[in-house]
Amino acid sequence: MSNYAIILAAGKGTRMKSDLPKVLHQVAGISMLEHVFRSVSAIAPEKMVTVVGHQAELVQQVLEGQTDFVLQTEQLGTGHAVLMAEDQLAALEGQTLVIAGDTPLITGESLKGLIDFHVSHKNVATILTAQADNPFGYGRIVRNKIDEVVKIVEQKDATDFEQQIKEINTGTYVFDNKRLFEALKNINTDNAQGEYYLTDVIGIFKEAGEKVGAYKLQDFNESLGVNDRVALATAEKIMRQRINQEHMLNGVTFIDPERTYIDIDVELAADVQVEANVVLQGKTKIGSETLLTNGTVIVDSQLGEGVVVTHSMIEESIIGSGVTIGPYAHIRPDSELADQVHIGNFVEVKSSSIGENSKAGHLTYIGNAEIGPDVNVGAGTVTVNYDGKGKYRTKVGKGAFIGSQSTLIAPLSVGDYALTAAGSVINEDVPADALALGRSRQVTKEGYAVKFPHHPQQKEK
Ligand code: UD1
Ligand code: CA
Repeated sequence: MSNYAIILAAGKGTRMKSDLPKVLHQVAGISMLEHVFRSVSAIAPEKMVTVVGHQAELVQQVLEGQTDFVLQTEQLGTGHAVLMAEDQLAALEGQTLVIAGDTPLITGESLKGLIDFHVSHKNVATILTAQADNPFGYGRIVRNKIDEVVKIVEQKDATDFEQQIKEINTGTYVFDNKRLFEALKNINTDNAQGEYYLTDVIGIFKEAGEKVGAYKLQDFNESLGVNDRVALATAEKIMRQRINQEHMLNGVTFIDPERTYIDIDVELAADVQVEANVVLQGKTKIGSETLLTNGTVIVDSQLGEGVVVTHSMIEESIIGSGVTIGPYAHIRPDSELADQVHIGNFVEVKSSSIGENSKAGHLTYIGNAEIGPDVNVGAGTVTVNYDGKGKYRTKVGKGAFIGSQSTLIAPLSVGDYALTAAGSVINEDVPADALALGRSRQVTKEGYAVKFPHHPQQKEK
């Protein structure tokens, strides 16, 4: 029988106190909604419907083209939200997974287990539950004397006795699809929150003598429902532990995994070493035997093998193998460093390519430039790429030697093996093999310093 899925993502998330809809808050670099979507994809549903409402367009953008959407214009409760998918699903044979968009830690594995359990037990409804130390805020699973699930009671509706129950509703369920939509016709708003509770269908099924079951998660952490920023930070922490653990099992060394922040889609090869306070974001990919030292931040970049990045930042760039960067370097978007390049301390590179084996060791700005291979860029060199209106390019040929404190005024081309004298302002193209001097001659006045007050002869007077 076919699987279908409904993701509930219409709520505002009042307790988040945010302009951003709750399900778009991020955990390890992607929204909670995307986490849920990825887990749901593990059960390969034939049809997936996401219920949107609060800031619907914004929420829809995140999963555009990957699920169907239905609009819940007024958020009247989770039961009402599911009912919005009636036109899409109610006529279909099979089972439907319903999951809340604010439970980012539930894994695809658990959802597969839930579906298998539901099907093999021939249940009409199966609740994904968990055992909580502190169940406050969650719906509680009420069982009878022979341990059968009888109903779910919400925190705000629970009696003192029911509040002692530690088995909680994760907000994820599998239902016989047709029966689900029939039962939803019978729920009402007669409860503490005046909402249509999806959870009420469980009691309805049970009273009708239908088979209802619970599938309990081994790990309570998976069930975390994020309703406020405290829970968001908890989800973040647990997700990062999972991510880092997987990298460690794949051969990555961490000095302090508790203090290393790696987004979910980052790829690390075996024998990468990551020190504390390293942040790796977005679609970053790091080759083997690369060392990322304390405080390094890398965003949406690719690094080759055997790279050493010391306390530096790299954004949206491609770095070859054997490159050394830092300390305190900044590689800004759209840069490409070939193999064996060396970028030293206080060097900034932006929208530039740097050829194999070239070096810029100290205090340099390289912007909108194309630097060939085997180039030496002396200390304090600056490309002057901006005149307040446009950006201009600098081209430096292979093997060129740019003297320290050269000012390269773009547009400019320096030919292969050319040399610029230290301290030069270069504003005309330099042909290959030439030496360019762009500075005034030194004037030396013998004995002149004696007249100045710093001089010992003046002090004696
Ligand atoms: C819900 C469950 C509770 C469970 C908990 C698990 C109900 C009545 N209660 O409570 O038993 O323990 O989840 O985390 O279902 N939503 C809509 N439209 C609405 C209302 C909600 O789409 O009209 C969406 C929200 O965007 C959210 C999800 O449904 O993604 C859950 O809603 P929320 O208000 O967070 O429910 P809880 O109070 O946490
Ligand atoms: Ca919730």
